[in-house]
Amino acid sequence: DRVRPLIAGNWKMNGTAAELPELKRIADGVDGTRSSSPYDALICVPATLIDRAIKTVVGSPLAIGGQDCHGAESGAHTGDVSAAMLADAGATHVIVGHSERRADHGETDIDVMDKTLAAHAQGLTAIVCVGETRQEREDGQAMDVVDTQLAGSLPKDAAPGNTVVAYEPVWAIGTGLTPSLLDIEAMHDHMRQRLRERFGPAGARFRLLYGGSVKPANAGEIFGISSVDGALVGGASLKSDDFLAICATV
Ligand code: G3H
Repeated sequence: DRVRPLIAGNWKMNGTAAELPELKRIADGVDGTRSSSPYDALICVPATLIDRAIKTVVGSPLAIGGQDCHGAESGAHTGDVSAAMLADAGATHVIVGHSERRADHGETDIDVMDKTLAAHAQGLTAIVCVGETRQEREDGQAMDVVDTQLAGSLPKDAAPGNTVVAYEPVWAIGTGLTPSLLDIEAMHDHMRQRLRERFGPAGARFRLLYGGSVKPANAGEIFGISSVDGALVGGASLKSDDFLAICATV
C-alpha cells in the first residue's frame, strides 16, 4: 500500500498579512475534505503568521506548520521559538534541519535531533530535512552524507505518525535544477532501506518527501516515483496557482 502523500509548502522568510488572501486561495483549492482528498496539504509559514494563517484556513483541509523550533522547552534563548509556542499558535507540523538553517545557523545533526524531540514532546509532526551539497554529490558522497544525517537527526522515538523525512539536495534548492528521476529514486529507495533497517516494518510507512525546485511542470514525474511520498515545495508554494497545480498532479 502506498503511503498517503503529503504536499508541504515552505514559505521561508516570506509572508505578512498581505499574503493571507493567497493562503486562503490555497486552502480553498485543496481537494475535498481531509478524509476524502487523495493527499494531505500543509503550508509552513513564518512563526509570526501562524495564528492568522490558522484563522484564514479554518474549516479547510490545509494544515499550517512552522519552519523551525528550538530544541529546549523554554528559557533564555532570545529570538527563538519553542515547539510549545508553535503548537499553542495552532501549528501541527514543524520543519527541522532545513539546509538553510544548517548553513545560516550552523545547526548540526545533534541540534536537529533535539528539535525533533522537542517537536514530538508537543505533539507536532517533525519534517526532518536531509540532503547533500553539489560537491558531496560530485564526490560520490551523497548517500553517505544522507545516511549520516538520518542516523544523527532521527531520534529513537521517531515513527511514521510523528516524523516525515524530506530529501532536499542543497544544490537543487531555489536553483531550477533537479536530480534525474533515477537519482531521486535511488536516493529515496536507499533512505527507505535505511529506515527499515532502523525502525523495522514501521520504516516502510514514514513519508519520504522530495524537495528542490519542484514546479507544476516536473511534479507529476517526480510523484510517479514509487518511493516519493510527496514534496517539500519552496518558491512554488508562494503562488496558489503553482501550489495547487502541483497538488493536482498527485
Ligand atoms: O523547503 C523547500 C525547499 O528548500 C525547496 O525550495 O522549491 O524553492 O527549490 P524550492
